[in-house]
Amino acid sequence: APAHTVATLDVLLAEPRGFCAGVDRAIEIVEKALTKFGAPIYVRHEIVHNTYVVNDLKTKGAIFIEALDEVPAGATLVFSAHGVSRAVQQEASRRGFRIFDATCPLVTKVHVEVAKLAKEGYEFIMIGHKGHPEVEGTMGQLDGGIHLVDSVADVARITPAQSDKLAVVTQTTLSVDDAADIAAAIKARFPKVREPKQQDICYATQNRQDAVKLMSPQVDVVVVVGSPTSSNSNRLAEVARKLGTPGYMVDSAADLQAQWLEGCQRVGLTAGASAPEILVTQVIERLKALGAVSVQRLAGDPENVKFPLPKGLRMDTTEEL
Ligand code: F3S
Repeated sequence: APAHTVATLDVLLAEPRGFCAGVDRAIEIVEKALTKFGAPIYVRHEIVHNTYVVNDLKTKGAIFIEALDEVPAGATLVFSAHGVSRAVQQEASRRGFRIFDATCPLVTKVHVEVAKLAKEGYEFIMIGHKGHPEVEGTMGQLDGGIHLVDSVADVARITPAQSDKLAVVTQTTLSVDDAADIAAAIKARFPKVREPKQQDICYATQNRQDAVKLMSPQVDVVVVVGSPTSSNSNRLAEVARKLGTPGYMVDSAADLQAQWLEGCQRVGLTAGASAPEILVTQVIERLKALGAVSVQRLAGDPENVKFPLPKGLRMDTTEEL
């Protein structure tokens, strides 16, 4: 027998896991644009943070770019699910591309809220991860007056011009618990701060973290399918670790290491919002090869969220562009 084969290993599958409605829609936008206009279709940034998804779309004719000067005149351009700043939007229109916006509607909702409150004279504190494209897009809705905090310690460092009209906004894919701690620190320093009516953290992030919280105590190790760049996938592994269960991320089945399973009887498996189910299936196959004898689905709330496609890509064939 192979060196690392385990005697009996059961797999527990988290519910829900994998694709959210925003990721589904973003991928469909690129695919529909390819069908309707033909290759190449340019996409600004990885459409969603997943290696498999990006490579699959590349083979179908998508070209991923970061800077708009890489896109030829007259081309079709898709904005990624993470959203873009005003400056990027304006530059893309100025260059005359045919634009489809795959920004998740739940990110757009945050952008709209920022613009509205800014008109009312608010300054902002954004809870988010520095350098993440969603944070750049949301902060880039304004020319300034948004202060980024990534930790409780950051809250003491920011220097807003006033403290009467301050509002909190967040990245949609944060750790629910960390964001709550940071929000409490903000409230303690700025008691008048306006907190979002509803959390900006999205339903998919919340549900996947809840599912890992339910699963972690029942397993010896948690495996998260997701790319290293995926914020929400990283948070899932963190949630497991915070509960004392080792948590590992795999970008594909090949990343799964047999030694993670040594001495384990139950392995929990989940996937980030940008990770396709085919990768979960492949990880299960690999776990079976390493000794897994059963796969069990955990109970979880079903999700029924679906976002409409942008005008010009809906299936109505009589539609004018
Ligand atoms: Fe949107 Fe949340 Fe998915 S913000 S893209 S529904 S992870």
